[in-house]
Amino acid sequence: MRLYIDSADLKEIAFLNEYYPISGVTTNPSIIVKENRPYLELLTEIRGIIGEEKELFVQVIGDTAEEMVDEAKFINQQISGNVVVKVPVTEEGLKAIKLLSEENIPSLATTIYTSFQALMAAMAGAKYVAPYVNRIDNLTGSGVNVTAEIVELFASYHLSTEVLAASFKNVQQVHDVCLAGAQTATVAPDIIKKFIAFPSTSQDVAVFKKEWQNVYGSDKTNLINSK
Ligand code: G3P
Repeated sequence: MRLYIDSADLKEIAFLNEYYPISGVTTNPSIIVKENRPYLELLTEIRGIIGEEKELFVQVIGDTAEEMVDEAKFINQQISGNVVVKVPVTEEGLKAIKLLSEENIPSLATTIYTSFQALMAAMAGAKYVAPYVNRIDNLTGSGVNVTAEIVELFASYHLSTEVLAASFKNVQQVHDVCLAGAQTATVAPDIIKKFIAFPSTSQDVAVFKKEWQNVYGSDKTNLINSK
């Protein structure tokens, strides 16, 4: 499984990129406007933090396929390194994905609510599809089931498009899409941190340290100064 940070918060990105096994950063217009600053400058700083290799996802906002393709090319000129263009699965978006694929520009089909939207996007040449798990759940559907269906359809038709599951409100949803076979997921920083937060783990670590210091002395804080 590959994990992406669904945020444009530079502090969070720097922290998670240092501590967690992160493959890149995904943004969308709502995520970018939260930072309230010039977006190209922001994206360039994100690139500076994660380096050139990790994928940085940027979403187009144009209405027509041609506008979306122009935006995709513009973003690829402005932002160095490994960039993936996010395109919504409207009809214009689908056409844009086809045009981008013909020019070998990687795209992610976003705002996916059904497995057939994902199938069309994959057939059009999208590198990734992003089912909106929590938003599907909020419509009394099942984001996990939609993800599982997408995985199954792609396997049946030997499509190389990967699932980048998105829109999560809790760890359980991420856990379930991983079990359903999603190759990748993008998750907000507060939920990523909950992946490993567990009180018993912290308690165990504290007990190990206390037992050690009871025998070797309270000034012995690590193996090196305990020699
Ligand atoms: O990556 C898509 C994602 O940002 C949507 O998430 O939490 O706004 O439903 P959310």
